[in-house]
Amino acid sequence: MRWPLVVAMVVGLLAGSVIALIVVSGTPGREASGPQPLTTGKALIGGPFSLVDHKGRSVTNKDFAGRKMLVFFGFTSCPDVCPSGLQVISAALDKLGPKAETITPVLITVDPGRDTPAVLAEYVKSFHPRLVGLTGSEEQVQAAAKAYRVYAKKVPDDKSPGGYTIEHSAYLYLMDESGGFLTHFPSTVGVDRLAQELAKAL
Ligand code: NI
Repeated sequence: MRWPLVVAMVVGLLAGSVIALIVVSGTPGREASGPQPLTTGKALIGGPFSLVDHKGRSVTNKDFAGRKMLVFFGFTSCPDVCPSGLQVISAALDKLGPKAETITPVLITVDPGRDTPAVLAEYVKSFHPRLVGLTGSEEQVQAAAKAYRVYAKKVPDDKSPGGYTIEHSAYLYLMDESGGFLTHFPSTVGVDRLAQELAKAL
């Protein structure tokens, strides 16, 4: 493609956008049905989910409504990243004491094949008393991971039970009382920093 043509196309596109903006902003009474802004200031993380908790009960996002959630995706046979992330969550919540009771820590497994409700029930005991473990069918877990933009991939590993391990992203997601995204932290955030940040959100 020749440069003058590219320049002409870019100019054309820009002119088109300006006209579109004028048309949109000049139209009175436009409601939600009109064009939505590309950025809303809220990240598109989270959303409805349907899973099974560590007591074997079917739960959805609605069961957590009215409380903040601190969501972490991981799996119980993870050797280091997950247990240390969960330890940071537990210690930060302990540090904040009773005022952090409005925050529910949630571990959503990325390994539903091995992490049954019973396995999760044993695992969550090692961390915070209010930690909720969630699992489900492959499809349910995949849908939840997708909603939170979590990367998780099975990779062969002879040393792990079942011959595989799971590579996954490790962020903590703080969600508001209606399940909307507030902020996120790396799992390496540290106890003091996490406690500080959570205190701001309380
Ligand atoms: Ni892990």
